[in-house]
Amino acid sequence: MSALLDVENLQKRFGSLRALDGFSLTAERGKLTGLIGPNGAGKTTAFACISGATKPTAGKIVFDGGEIEGKPYHRVARLGIARTYQVVQTFAEMTVLEAVTVGALMRHPRLSDARAKAADTIEFVGLGPKRDTLGKSLTIADKKRLEVARALATEPALLLLDEVMAGLTPAEAQAAVALLREILGRGITIVMVEHVMEVLMPIADHIVVLSAGKTIFSGTPHAAANDPAVLEAYLGPPIT
Ligand SMILES: Nc1ncnc2c1ncn2[C@@H]1O[C@H](COP(=O)(O)OP(=O)(O)OP(=O)(O)O)[C@@H](O)[C@H]1O
Ligand SMILES: [Mg+2]
Repeated sequence: MSALLDVENLQKRFGSLRALDGFSLTAERGKLTGLIGPNGAGKTTAFACISGATKPTAGKIVFDGGEIEGKPYHRVARLGIARTYQVVQTFAEMTVLEAVTVGALMRHPRLSDARAKAADTIEFVGLGPKRDTLGKSLTIADKKRLEVARALATEPALLLLDEVMAGLTPAEAQAAVALLREILGRGITIVMVEHVMEVLMPIADHIVVLSAGKTIFSGTPHAAANDPAVLEAYLGPPIT
């Protein structure tokens, strides 16, 4: 069976800045692919291109056998790609149930159906007791869960997670990892940007490393941790 997502040689320019300059990534079905790279490497831009939030300048994105590069966000979402945001969306004045219902409406146009789907999703991510809490009153960890719930409520085949562990305590991060395993257990494919390597290494099936817009490594977590080019991207050139 072919990969669920295949990104080939993606380019994205903002004026003269080459934010992506040869980004390639393959995500196998049902697996977790970790996307790592130094600050400003282009990880969030890569997610923006894949999800249709922005158009790539050149390159190919094949999702589930069809080319999707340049398609608008709402069409990509309907095809089955959902994304969370590095800077959490506030949903300040919405309750958890209302915010997740917005996601569920995509596939359930009747409000009562969307509410029921949202309620299920909220239970699944562990926010059940907070379904009537306003977004602004949630802790960081719960805001991140809300982001994941809103994305899951669109019933994606592919979930793009942008630093959902950032700012969590070690205990909260562990709980988040348990949730990721449950999401994988439902057959959903995950591509995840994460800076905390200790969190990513045990759960990632595959690692892709982006540096200055270019994919410089693709392989197992173990190989990534021992790859000279990866180490140099993070630490600078070896001192001679
Ligand atoms: N809308 C935009 N307009 C202009 N430049 C942008 C835009 N979005 C991103 N950039 C630039 O593109 C480059 C890649 O940014 P991006 O946010 O994708 O990196 P990142 O790998 O997600 O970084 P971080 O680890 O800090 O989140 C940066 O130089 C950034 O300043
Ligand atoms: Mg980013």
